[in-house]
Amino acid sequence: MSGFSESWLELREPVDHRSRDLGLIRALGAHLEALDGDARVLLDLGCGTGSTCRGLSPFLPDGVEWRLFDKDPALLEAARRRLGPEGPRGARHQFLLGDAGGETPLPLDGVAVVTSSAFFDLCSAGFCARLVRELGQAGAGLYANLTYDGQMSWSIPHELDTAVVRDFNLHQRRDKGFGPALGPQAAPFLSECLKAVGYRVESASSPWRMGPQDKALQIEFLEGMRRPLEEIGTLPRTHVSAWIGFRLGVLDLAESTCEVGHTDLLALGGASA
Ligand SMILES: C[S@@+](CC[C@H](N)C(=O)[O-])C[C@H]1O[C@@H](n2cnc3c(N)ncnc32)[C@H](O)[C@@H]1O
Repeated sequence: MSGFSESWLELREPVDHRSRDLGLIRALGAHLEALDGDARVLLDLGCGTGSTCRGLSPFLPDGVEWRLFDKDPALLEAARRRLGPEGPRGARHQFLLGDAGGETPLPLDGVAVVTSSAFFDLCSAGFCARLVRELGQAGAGLYANLTYDGQMSWSIPHELDTAVVRDFNLHQRRDKGFGPALGPQAAPFLSECLKAVGYRVESASSPWRMGPQDKALQIEFLEGMRRPLEEIGTLPRTHVSAWIGFRLGVLDLAESTCEVGHTDLLALGGASA
């Protein structure tokens, strides 16, 4: 178990898909298009139930081979069930169970680009630095989208918003299985490491913009903030409950929106990538 439920990933998938930066997806598609058919190999780190594959596939050329990698057997099984061994236009899907943060090197043999969604904010500086080294050695690129950037805002303000975001972001830096996580620092850190070894890096913002139509996702998101806020512990539990109660109470108002910032990144051109 990774702590990410299938139902949570399902709830966020439509918002993830509409939030990703299209320019970077098209640039990834063009990069793959220029490769020979059998070189169009993607390794999706932390694939969950396969959302990255579902979201990107319409923009990619024929004959892509996806290697979907996750440490959670239940989520990987859901990916296998939902995607099957083959996709449209000659796509092939392989499912790999493994711990990206473990000792074993990542399966980068023949991989053109490593992809990931909502993954790198969980990772440590050590892991990201190691990945960049391994990418350079393998001549692979990186497309990392929906990395949380530390920004959250609501159209209807509450006096505790700033304190809540501060504490949530502190919790993002705690160990998520790789050592102390980079959280909102992940995208800038990766970008610097990649540029330092010669990659051409493009970044774009990809915020979740949620309104009353995304009520179910917003409820889960708000309820999911309770434990991190309580674990940081600078706000009394009664304040945390009052803030969540206020936010749940205004969700149905037409003017009520919430924005959660993310960064997408595409790095190509390092070594032979
Ligand atoms: C926020 S979820 C995102 C899932 C999927 N990419 C999506 O966008 O729906 C993070 C994923 O990373 C996986 N994960 C976390 N730590 C991992 C590790 N050390 N090795 C492999 N996968 C990991 C989790 O199991 C989970 O599926």
